[in-house]
Amino acid sequence: MANTVCGLTLILFIASLASGVSAAASAASAGRKIFDVRSYGARGDGKTDNAIAFTKAWKDACQWKGNARVFVPFGTFYLGGVTFSGPCQSRISFIIKGTLLAPKDANVIKQDTWIVFKYVDYLTISGGGTLDGQGTNAWRLNDCSRNPSCRQLPMNIGFQFVRFSRISRIKSINSKMGHFNFFAVEHFEITRVSISAPGDSPNTDGIKIGSSHHMKIHDVYIGTGDDCIAILSGTTNLDIYGVKCGPGHGISVGSLGRFKDEKSVYGISVRDSVFTGTSNGVRIKTWAPSASRNTVSNFVFQNLQMINVGNPIIIDQQYCPNNQCSKKSHSQVQIVNVKFNNIWGTSTDKVAVKLQCSDMAPCKDVELAGINLVHRGLDSPATALCENVSGWTRGKISPPSCI
Ligand SMILES: *[C@@H]1O[C@H](CO)[C@@H](O)[C@H](O)[C@H]1NC(C)=O
Repeated sequence: MANTVCGLTLILFIASLASGVSAAASAASAGRKIFDVRSYGARGDGKTDNAIAFTKAWKDACQWKGNARVFVPFGTFYLGGVTFSGPCQSRISFIIKGTLLAPKDANVIKQDTWIVFKYVDYLTISGGGTLDGQGTNAWRLNDCSRNPSCRQLPMNIGFQFVRFSRISRIKSINSKMGHFNFFAVEHFEITRVSISAPGDSPNTDGIKIGSSHHMKIHDVYIGTGDDCIAILSGTTNLDIYGVKCGPGHGISVGSLGRFKDEKSVYGISVRDSVFTGTSNGVRIKTWAPSASRNTVSNFVFQNLQMINVGNPIIIDQQYCPNNQCSKKSHSQVQIVNVKFNNIWGTSTDKVAVKLQCSDMAPCKDVELAGINLVHRGLDSPATALCENVSGWTRGKISPPSCI
C-alpha cells in the first residue's frame, strides 16, 4: 500500500516536471482539471464560431469541484458574443495562449460587451494571449462626438459582480469601443496587461471602472484613442501604479454628475506612472449642471512623469461636451482632499495646472507639492489657473501655484 502511494507520487512528480500545462499532468494532479476548448469542438482556424464550444467548456469547468482550468491553446479562435456566468463550484482559471478574434460586424455581437464574465469569485485570466476586437471598420460608424444618443458598440471584455479575481498577461487590441469594463467588481487585480488601439480611434477607453471596490491596477501599458483609465460613479479604494499611458486622454475620474443616483468616488491613488503624448495627464471632470450631488474625495496623484502632455493636471467642473449646457450652470459634485505630489515633465498646453472648480461647490483641501512642469514654445513659460479652489502647497511649485 505504502509503495503504491509512493510510486504514484513519483509518477505525478515526473509528469509535472515534464510538462507545464498539459492535460496529462493536470488531470493527474489532485482536484485539478483542464477543460481544453478543443475537446468541446473549438477550432483555431480563425473562421469557425467557437462561442458554443467555449460556453460548454466554461460550464463544465464552472461545475467542477476542484481547481478548474479552461484552456485555449495557440491559434486564432473566432468567437461571437459570449457570457461566462457563475457562480462556480471552486476556483476557476481561464488560460488563453492564442488569439480570440471578435466578429468585425458589431451587429453579430448581441450584447453590449463581446466577452462577459459575471457572478464569479476566484477567477484568474492569464496565458499571454490576445483579445482582438477587430474595431477598425466599426470606428467609422461611431458618431458619438456629434450624437449624444449614439449607438454603443460592444466593448472587448467585461466583468460584472466578479470578486477576489485577477487578470494578468493578456493583450487587448482594437476594441470597437472600450477595452475592459468593470462593474460591481470587488477585490480585483489587473496586472501585466497591454491595451492598444490607434490614438485616433474613437471612444476606445482602456479600462473603465464603475461601482467597484478594492481594485488594483499595476504594471500595465495602455495606449488608445480615449482615456487610458476612466474611473466612474461609485468606485472606491482603487490603487493604480506602474502605468505607461499614451497615446490617449490620460487617467480620468468621471465624467461624474451627469445622471441621477450617481455615487461618490473616494480613496483613489494614481502613482509611479508615465504619460506620453496624452491630451491630459490626471483629470477629474464633472458635469455642469449636474443631476446628482456627491463627493469626490481622498485622492493621491503621486510620482508622475508627463512627457508632452496637453493638460498634465486638470480639474474640470465645467464639463459639458458639444455645447449642450449653458455657461452659467454649475456642478454640484464636491471635490475634497486631493493631493498632487511630485509631478514633473513637459506640458504642450501653456496652462500646465488647471484647477477649475465649481462655483457652487468649490474644491477644498487641494494640495500641490513638488510640481515641476515646463512648457516649451513661443507662449512660454507654463502657467497655473485656479477657480474656486482652496488648499495649500508644499515644496517647489513650478509653474507658480495659484492656490
Ligand atoms: C468662482 O470663481 C469665479 C471665477 O474666478 C469667481 O468669479 C467666483 O466669484 C468664484 N465663486 C466663489 C463662490 O468663490
